[in-house]
Parts: sequence; C-alpha cells; structure tokens
Amino acid sequence: MSRYARPKSVLITGATGGIGSALAVCYAAPGVRLVLHGRRQAQLAALATRCTAAGADVLTAVGDVRERPQFRAWLAEICTGDAPDLVLVTAGLNTHVGAQGEAEDWASVEALLEVNVWAAMATVDAVLPAMRRRGHGQIALFSSLAAFHGLPLTPSYSASKAAIKAYGEALRGWLAPEGIAVNVVMPGYVDSLMCREMPGPKPCQWPAERAARVIQAGLRANPARLSFPRLLAFGCWWLAVLPAAVSSRLLRVLRYVP
Ligand SMILES: NC(=O)c1ccc[n+]([C@@H]2O[C@H](COP(=O)([O-])OP(=O)(O)OC[C@H]3O[C@@H](n4cnc5c(N)ncnc54)[C@H](OP(=O)(O)O)[C@@H]3O)[C@@H](O)[C@H]2O)c1
Repeated sequence: MSRYARPKSVLITGATGGIGSALAVCYAAPGVRLVLHGRRQAQLAALATRCTAAGADVLTAVGDVRERPQFRAWLAEICTGDAPDLVLVTAGLNTHVGAQGEAEDWASVEALLEVNVWAAMATVDAVLPAMRRRGHGQIALFSSLAAFHGLPLTPSYSASKAAIKAYGEALRGWLAPEGIAVNVVMPGYVDSLMCREMPGPKPCQWPAERAARVIQAGLRANPARLSFPRLLAFGCWWLAVLPAAVSSRLLRVLRYVP
C-alpha cells in the first residue's frame, strides 16, 4: 500500500470553506487525527461534531492566516512532537474586476495575496522542519485551473494561483529525495461561497463533496498535479500551450471578459 494511502493525521487550513469542509468529512475516520483551521468558529464547531461522529479525533483552531506570526507559532506548536502526515493548504480568497471593467479593489488584492500566497508559503515553511526531520510527509497546495492562463475577470486570483503552482512544482523537485510529497491541486469550478461570488461562465461545475472525493483518491497516488474535471483541465492546459494571442481571443469568445 502506498505510504500516502491512509494518512493518520491531517491538517486542513480553510476547513470552514466548501472544499475544506468536504475534505474534512472525507478524511474523518476512526484512528485519524484532524486539525481544522478557519475563521468562522460556529462552522468549525459544527464540522468538528460531524467529524467526531465519524470517529476522528478532532482539534479545531480559529484564526486569521494573515496574522502570520501567530499563525506560524500555532503551526509550530501543532508540529511539536510530530508533524501531520498530510497538510491540505486550502485557505483562499478571490477578487474580480467589476461588471463594467472597474479595477479590482486594492485592499482586496492585498488580502488575497496575503492569504493565497504568503499564508500558503508560511504554512509550508512552518510544517517542513518537522516533516524533514521525520523523513516523510505530504503537502497539497491548492492552485486552480486559472493558473494555466490568467483569466481577464480575475487577474490577481489567477496570478496568485500561478505562483502557487510554480511554488509547488519547485518544492516537489526539491523535497522528493527526502521522502516529502508535494502536490499541486488545480480544481475547476467547485460549488462554494468563493465560486458563487465569482462572475463569468462556470462550465462543468462540481459539488464540493465530489471534488473532495476526487482529491482524496488522487492524492493517494502522489501526483505532481491533480487537475479536474478532466475535459476543462485539458482545455485550460491548451490555453497555456497555444500562442497567447490565440488564447486571449478564445477567452473573449468564451465570455471570460467583463
Ligand atoms: N471553488 C472553486 O471553484 C475553486 C476553484 C479552483 C481553486 N479553488 C481553491 O480551493 C481552495 C478552497 O476554496 P473554496 O471553494 O472552498 O472556497 P471558500 O468556500 O470560499 O473557502 C475559503 C476558505 O478559506 C478560509 N480563509 C479565507 N481567508 C482566510 C483568512 N484570512 N484566515 C483564515 N482562513 C481564511 C475561509 O475561512 P472562513 O470561511 O472561516 O473565513 C474558508 O475556510 C481555495 O484555495 C481556492 O482558491 C477553488
């Protein structure tokens, strides 16, 4: 059996979100320790009750990942003794341009970069020392199909997810010889608060439960990239391969513009 088949301890940031909470439910089982992080206390408590009923040992933490010193200190505390087997870095934000082409709100752009990039990298940096000492571990970084080619409706989001894709791919090459697996998860449209607030077409949208099942099953095989749904992922991959002028034109025809 693959070492990644049955993680005994799983840390999830963004556990209160659509995908994060569905993942928590998927991994909840007897003998599994779940560490769930998010901002909304009531959602975390309800999720903990559900996961405990499924037999998991659950620890919750309410916090803002933008408060990096506190967040990093909490992660270091979690890793005292032993690091989680699997860390799912799902916390994320989105912003978009206005319906009439108005620029993204700058404060929202800063917040997005802090959560999607800085906090994701801070998570990795804080859990890595314990994983490297132990000589194994798995980290799944949440990018997006928007990382293949920037979407005109969500420039900052696309940029942040492209950064995470490159970061994850680089980490994977660096850390694989030490027994640490790094995976870049690239979902298409998955029903969640973030997805509902996003403008533009949302082809092949999946329920969060389906996405979580596919992510859990996919991570067992330790893929470099886990992108879905397959057809949309293939189309988005082509956007990166084609000449940029052709891709931009395609995105305009497909109405991914304000
Ligand atoms: N849904 C999609 O279509 C889609 C597609 C591609 C990629 N993704 C990626 O998948 C991941 C999960 O997205 P989702 O759809 O589940 O979104 P979501 O339902 O909006 O959840 C976002 C999660 O991030 C947490 N978060 C945001 N800002 C935070 C902060 N400052 N401090 C702590 N936690 C914070 C939220 O916590 P609170 O709710 O408690 O504030 C929530 O748990 C994200 O990285 C997203 O970019 C999603």
